[in-house]
Amino acid sequence: MTCETRIGGVCTALTGDAVAGDTYYTGNGCVDCHFADATGPPSIVESSCSTMFDKLSGAVTHGGGVFDGVTEQDAADIRAWIDSL
Ligand code: HEC
Repeated sequence: MTCETRIGGVCTALTGDAVAGDTYYTGNGCVDCHFADATGPPSIVESSCSTMFDKLSGAVTHGGGVFDGVTEQDAADIRAWIDSL
């Protein structure tokens, strides 16, 4: 899975690591709101890598808040983890 575009710029094509994505997702409490299988509410199963990054970085408003230090690689990793479910 690659992270193609995002608000405010072009992001480098990245290859996600599903294991790292699972670790980030669990370790940062995403699981509390979006459930262990990412079905929400709201579901993020269909969310693109770029949406993932924009939400977590605070480029767009996120009901779960801003995750300081999140990288595009983290977003690509989470996306890869969801794809692996
Ligand atoms: C306190 C609850 C909470 C936590 C924790 C949380 N979120 Fe969210 N998230 C929400 C809510 C509510 C929305 C819907 C409103 C919005 O889009 O901001 C949302 C929206 C999203 C969306 C956009 C869905 C779409 O396609 O429109 C993504 C992607 C997302 N969250 C990913 C994450 C990830 C990854 C984490 C962990 C790093 C996380 N969230 C942590 C509550 C949370």
